Amino acid sequence: APFLRILGIETSCDETAAAVVERDADGRSKVLSDVVLSQLDEHSAYGGVVPEIAARAHVEALDTLIDEALQRAGVSVRDVDAIAVTSGPGLIGGLLVGLMTGKAIAKAAGKPLYAVNHLEGHALTARLTDGLSFPYLMLLVSGGHTQLILVRGIGQYERWGTTIDDALGEAFDKTAKLLGLPYPGGPQVEEAAKKGNPDRFDFPRPLVGEKRLDFSFSGLKTAVRQTAADIAPLTEQDVADVCASFQRAISRTLKDRIGRGLQRFSAEFPHLDEEPALVVAGGVAANLEVRATLQALCDKYAFRFIAPPLRLCTDNAVMIAWAGLERMATGVAPDDLDVQPRSRW
Ligand code: KG4
Ligand code: ZN
Repeated sequence: APFLRILGIETSCDETAAAVVERDADGRSKVLSDVVLSQLDEHSAYGGVVPEIAARAHVEALDTLIDEALQRAGVSVRDVDAIAVTSGPGLIGGLLVGLMTGKAIAKAAGKPLYAVNHLEGHALTARLTDGLSFPYLMLLVSGGHTQLILVRGIGQYERWGTTIDDALGEAFDKTAKLLGLPYPGGPQVEEAAKKGNPDRFDFPRPLVGEKRLDFSFSGLKTAVRQTAADIAPLTEQDVADVCASFQRAISRTLKDRIGRGLQRFSAEFPHLDEEPALVVAGGVAANLEVRATLQALCDKYAFRFIAPPLRLCTDNAVMIAWAGLERMATGVAPDDLDVQPRSRW
């Protein structure tokens, strides 16, 4: 394998991030630096990400962050083989900031540019952290995405399921908001649920039992809103019970949807050399009940359950550098410098 060192840039949502990743001639990979600046404080007062604020914050932070990533890696931009930058999907303002910066560096330093799909970054992370081989299944559950993806190879992805309305993290955030809990709501709901009774409310589990592998969470949110209105004013115990019941409904939904996905994978790939694997990514992967549910499913269907360290599960630039590295290593041609951001890629 050729020695490769890549600078990665990520600005698609509310994290500004830069990282340097390299792979030596023996195929060993190493994260040389991993810098992430969260804009959480700027957005929390609004109960969600505000695109204009995000774009401005990226502009202000990105140059310094890239310098810091290079410095921590102990390299200069001359020492990297390529620049990898997220060019979609995401908020257009942030994508523009990252891509223009990436292009400028690539042009000035005479380095190739890889325009990376953010989802590809999430999808390939497990190969960096666990040396996973293709094919495998990946469940991405974040504030913006809920997708079950078959990862066949580099550049070969098949979407088996997606949400037809809210993302799973969004459902957590909206439920928290309805209950008067602060943003981001996922960790708050999880914490409150610990003291709650998951059997008190029987919330809907949309699409459970359906053959297609899609998700839907807006009905669940509506049910929470109705319940909260019915029993208002809510005591602390009521809030805990709603959270626990909500999480129970999520778990049951995942159990059905992902269970079907694992069975489909086994049917499609009956003769793999290794045990098949399910990889989870995205902020919701921090949720212990979600993890336990996925772990139990994997035990049941004889899958390895792979959850990369949380820092690499949520948005970061290591995964973008790594995706660029994988593409370069397999001989994928770099992108033209006139490549455009794709908000809905
Ligand atoms: O991957 P991520 O950090 O980035 C974006 O999507 O931007 O995911 C953030 C999402 C938020 O919706 C947050 O509420 C959710 O992940 N989340 C959780 C937990 N921690 C974060 N959801 C449920 N339980 C958690 N412990
Ligand atoms: Zn993401």
